[in-house]
Amino acid sequence: MNLWVGLVSLFPEMVSAIASAGILGRAIRRGEMGFEVFNPRDHASDRRRTVDDRPYGGGPGMVMMAEPLLGAIGEARERAPSPPRVVYLSPQGAKLDQSGVERLSRLSSLVLIAGRYEGIDERVIELAVDEELSIGDYILSGGELPAMVLVDALCRLLPGALNNEDSIQTESLLDGLLEYPQYTRPEQVGPLEVPAVLIGGDHGAVDRWRRMQALLRTWRRRPDLLASRALSDADSALLKAGMLKAGMLEAGMLEAGLPQAARAGTERRRD
Ligand SMILES: C[S@@+](CC[C@H](N)C(=O)[O-])C[C@H]1O[C@@H](n2cnc3c(N)ncnc32)[C@H](O)[C@@H]1O
Repeated sequence: MNLWVGLVSLFPEMVSAIASAGILGRAIRRGEMGFEVFNPRDHASDRRRTVDDRPYGGGPGMVMMAEPLLGAIGEARERAPSPPRVVYLSPQGAKLDQSGVERLSRLSSLVLIAGRYEGIDERVIELAVDEELSIGDYILSGGELPAMVLVDALCRLLPGALNNEDSIQTESLLDGLLEYPQYTRPEQVGPLEVPAVLIGGDHGAVDRWRRMQALLRTWRRRPDLLASRALSDADSALLKAGMLKAGMLEAGMLEAGLPQAARAGTERRRD
């Protein structure tokens, strides 16, 4: 097993469908990823199995109580094959991105905590949580979906979890770029045809076209990704060629924001 994940959640039934389907389900069935759910309700101390209570100081909603949560985290720690990193999914956490997923995928044991209600008693975070992670600047009603977003992203990086046909080599963000556009049969959909280069049989031309599309798409949609990396001379030339083709450089509007490598290339060309 490459990675064991224990999820602390009040709603095990909510995650079981996600954990049994597709690539994630297959990785769990094959034993490439371990996945178990721990319910704080099993660690409640009263007959009604209470796990939440009103917040001290007043205010709306309920708060998840510390003791059932700490009990479930403790159970997960005991089941983990190695000392786990404990992550609380929270809108107050650092924003999850692909490099964060890569970092966590190198661990062998992980315990994820899914909050509910108005969140969890702060002392659980102080006592048992190593880091907080958010999946974005919006509020969900529970941490189960964020936890499963992370589990799904982790699973795709585990050696052996993907078959060849699910190859991740060209996936968006893996090399800091968005992926090129994809097409499948038929060749014509309404007025739109598949770009001719993709059916011309010239693999080198296909590779160059895809790389250019990935660079252009990233430039248009996520310039922040390009701003934080240096482009190779080849990528810089491809991006400029793509921009010229798309009329973006002639317009003269975007050139000022070209990543440094691309800008240097443009200046050289003008000399
Ligand atoms: C309604 S939210 C509680 C939000 C809390 N009152 C706050 O303002 O920080 C309930 C639970 O959903 C989860 N959650 C909600 N939005 C999230 C997000 N963007 N990322 C990760 N977890 C989230 C957390 O586990 C949280 O404890």
